[in-house]
Amino acid sequence: MKRLHLVGLIAVALCAASAAHAEGDKARGRTLVYTCNGCHGVPGYANAYPDYHVPHIAGQNEQYIVNALKAYKSGERKHPTMGAQAQSMSDQEIADIAAYLSSLAK
Ligand code: HEC
Repeated sequence: MKRLHLVGLIAVALCAASAAHAEGDKARGRTLVYTCNGCHGVPGYANAYPDYHVPHIAGQNEQYIVNALKAYKSGERKHPTMGAQAQSMSDQEIADIAAYLSSLAK
């Protein structure tokens, strides 16, 4: 019994710790991904450029999206268009976008 109690306490502590991070706002993310749809074909929107490969980002893991966008922003991951997109985003916007995209069905 004592052990279970300790696990519960750790879980609460972890939740509190993660709440301190920039929390993504899905509703805001939804308005921010408007410009991404032409290329990424978020469900409900047509892919404007079917002739070259664009990765699916709808339903992608939240942390993966954050990492990818930060890598484009820093130049660690190179792609002219995505670099330009990411450079214009704040860390909060990246968190909002990731929260929204990861909430979508694949
Ligand atoms: C002009 C077309 C275009 C637009 C607009 C665009 N992207 Fe991209 N995006 C791409 C392409 C092409 C890639 C693949 C690049 C590469 O190979 O690294 C990509 C890659 C990505 C990745 C990495 C995916 C993976 O699986 O590794 C993410 C995340 C992403 N885009 C998010 C966004 C978001 C969010 C927006 C809107 C703010 C956006 N993109 C707008 C074309 C676009």
